[in-house]
Amino acid sequence: MGERMGNLRRTNMCGNLRMEDVGSEVILMGWVQRERNLGGLLFIDLRDTTGIVQIVFDDEAQKDMMEKAESVRSEYVLAIRGTVRERQSKNPNIPTGNIEVLAEEIRILDEAETPPIYIKNDDNVSETMRLKYRYLDLRKSEMQDNLKLRANISKVVRDFFHDNDFVEIETPMLTKPTPEGARDYLVPSRVNPGQFYALPQSPQLMKQLLMVSGMDRYYQIVKCFRDEDLRANRQPEFTQVDIEMSFVDVEDVLEINEKLVKKLFKEIKGIDIELPLLRMTYDEAMERYGVDKPDLRFGLELINATELLSGCGFKVFDDTIKSGGVVKGINVKYGADKFTRKDISKLEDHAKTYGAKGLAWIKLTEEGISSPIGKFFSDDEMSAIVELFEAKIGDLLLFVADKLDIANDSLGNLRNELARRLELISRDDYKILWITDFPLFEYDEEENRYVAKHHPFTHPVEEDIAMLESEPFKVRAKAYDLVINGDEMGGGSIRINNSQLQSRMFSALGFSKEEAQSKFGFLLDAFKYGTPPHGGIAFGLDRLVMLFSGSNNIRDVIAFPKTQSATCLMTDAPTNASEKQLEEVHIKVELKNE
Ligand code: AMO
Ligand code: AMP
Repeated sequence: MGERMGNLRRTNMCGNLRMEDVGSEVILMGWVQRERNLGGLLFIDLRDTTGIVQIVFDDEAQKDMMEKAESVRSEYVLAIRGTVRERQSKNPNIPTGNIEVLAEEIRILDEAETPPIYIKNDDNVSETMRLKYRYLDLRKSEMQDNLKLRANISKVVRDFFHDNDFVEIETPMLTKPTPEGARDYLVPSRVNPGQFYALPQSPQLMKQLLMVSGMDRYYQIVKCFRDEDLRANRQPEFTQVDIEMSFVDVEDVLEINEKLVKKLFKEIKGIDIELPLLRMTYDEAMERYGVDKPDLRFGLELINATELLSGCGFKVFDDTIKSGGVVKGINVKYGADKFTRKDISKLEDHAKTYGAKGLAWIKLTEEGISSPIGKFFSDDEMSAIVELFEAKIGDLLLFVADKLDIANDSLGNLRNELARRLELISRDDYKILWITDFPLFEYDEEENRYVAKHHPFTHPVEEDIAMLESEPFKVRAKAYDLVINGDEMGGGSIRINNSQLQSRMFSALGFSKEEAQSKFGFLLDAFKYGTPPHGGIAFGLDRLVMLFSGSNNIRDVIAFPKTQSATCLMTDAPTNASEKQLEEVHIKVELKNE
C-alpha cells in the first residue's frame, strides 16, 4: 500500500549529489536498488534515472522509521528526506560514492513484487525475459543511456536540418505501397470494403511530391515499416532520418549530409571528422572488399587471381575461369600459425553459407608450402601466386573460385569474420565513406528480370543513359550509400524528373504503362506539372544510435522492439482480432493448414 507524497516535493536527483552538497537537506524519490541491514545500521541504495545514492538509517533513527525501512524490498518506490553527509567508507566506483544521505523521514510510495529480472546492466538473463518485462529492463542505466543518446542524436539532427532551412513535414502512415522493395504491412479499410492501406516502407513518394509542391528542402524523423527477414540491424518498424532537396545534384546532397555526419560525431562523441568524406565507387568496393558496405577498419583486401590462374594446374580453378567465373583470395597476414586445419574448415563452412563451393588454402611455413592444392601447381605458378598476394613466410592464403558475385559475397563476408577472429577491429575506430555509382539495375533470378537496385525513380548517370535499352546492367545510378564501420547507415539518390526518361526506366524494368500508372500514377501525374531536379537520402536512425552506443543489437536502442519473428513479447502483438472487428473490416480469416 503506497503512502501519499503529501508535503514532500523532490528537491534533488539521486545521481547528482556530490561533496558540495554535504550538509544540505534533500528530498529524493526513487526505487530501491538494494537494501542491507547490518543490525542497528541499515543501508538502502536508492535509484532514479540519474544514478544511485546510498541512504543510511542509523541507530539514532526512530523506531517506527527503522521498522518501515526494514520492511522495504527491491524495487519499492520511496521518498526519503534526509541530510547529505560525507561517507566514511567511500565507493570510488559510483559518482555519488563520496557521500550518503542520513535519512530523517521515509515514505513508501509503492510496494513492489520481487521483479522477474534483476535491474542490473550485466545481468545475463535471456533476451526473451528482458523483452517480456521490457519496462523493467528499461530501468537499467545502460538501457536508459541508450534512449537518452537516441534523443540527443535526434535533437542534433533536428537542429541541423532546421538551421539549414529544411522544413519538417509529416507524411501519412495510411498510404499506398511505396517502392522500396520489401513486403508491405497492410491495414484493412472499414469504410472501403475489401481495400487496404499500406504502411509506408519509407516516405519516398511523398517527399518527391513535396518537391513538386515547391517545399524545396524537406526532412522528417519518421517511422517506416517493412515486412522482411529480420537481422541484428533490422526491425520491422524502424526510424529514418529522411531528407529531400530540390535543384540539387549528387554533390549537393553529399555535401550537406556529410556536414551532418561531422556534427553528429562532434556533438555526440567529441570526435573531429575530416571532410570531405572518403568516396569509393561501387565497382571498387566490390573488387577490393567483395561487398558494397566495406569495413575499412582493417585490411584483408580481396585479390583477384583470375588472370594469373587461368590455365593453371588446379582443375577446379581452371574450370571455373573457363566457364566465366573468377578466382579471388585473401592473404591472411601471419595467419599460418593462427588457423589449424580444423579452424580453416570452420572458415570454409562460413564461406559456404554464402554459396561458395569450397575454400582452398595455402600456408607459407618455414618448412615450405603446406596446402591441399599445392601439388596441382608448378613451382613457377606457386611463385607467381606468392608474388601476387605479396605473401611472406607465416601467411595464410585463402581462395574461392566461383561466379563473381558468389566469390565476392563469400570472401567479403569471410573477411569480416576473419577480422573478428583475429581481433583486428578496434572499438573506437570509425571509418566512414560514401559508396557511389551503384548499378541502376540488378538481375532478379527469381523473377527472371531486371529490378531497380535502389528504386524505379533513381536517375541514371548521364553518360550511361544511352545504354538503358542495349546494356542495362552497365548503367550506373546517381545513387549513394553512407557506410560506417561496415554497416549501411543511409542511402539515397538523385531522382528522375523527366517523364520520357521515367517511361524508358519503366519499360527497362518490364512495367507496362498500365502497371506503372496503377502503382505510381499519382506521382507520374504530378510530374506533368513542372518538377524540379531533386534528390535525397535517408539514414537509419536506429543504426546511428547503435553505432554511437557501441551496441550490436538494434533492439538495445529501441524502447519497445520486436523479436526476430516480428512479435512483441510484452504486449503479445500481433494477436487475433475479434469476430466483430473482423466483420467491421469485411475480413474472413481462413488459415491454410501448414
Ligand atoms: P533505404 O531502403 O536504403 O532507402 O533505407 C534507408 C536506411 O534505412 C535503414 N534501414 C533500416 N534500419 C532498420 N531496420 C530496417 N528494416 C531498415 N531498412 C532500412 C538503413 C538504410 O540505409 N527512400 C529511400 C531513401 C532515399 O532514396 O532517399 C530508402 O528508404 O540504414
Ligand atoms: P577437392 O579437390 O574438391 O577435394 O578440393 C580441394 C580443395 O579445394 C579443398 O580445400 C576445397 O575446399 C577446395 N575447393 C573446392 N572447390 C573450391 C572452389 N570452388 N573454390 C575454392 N576452393 C575450392
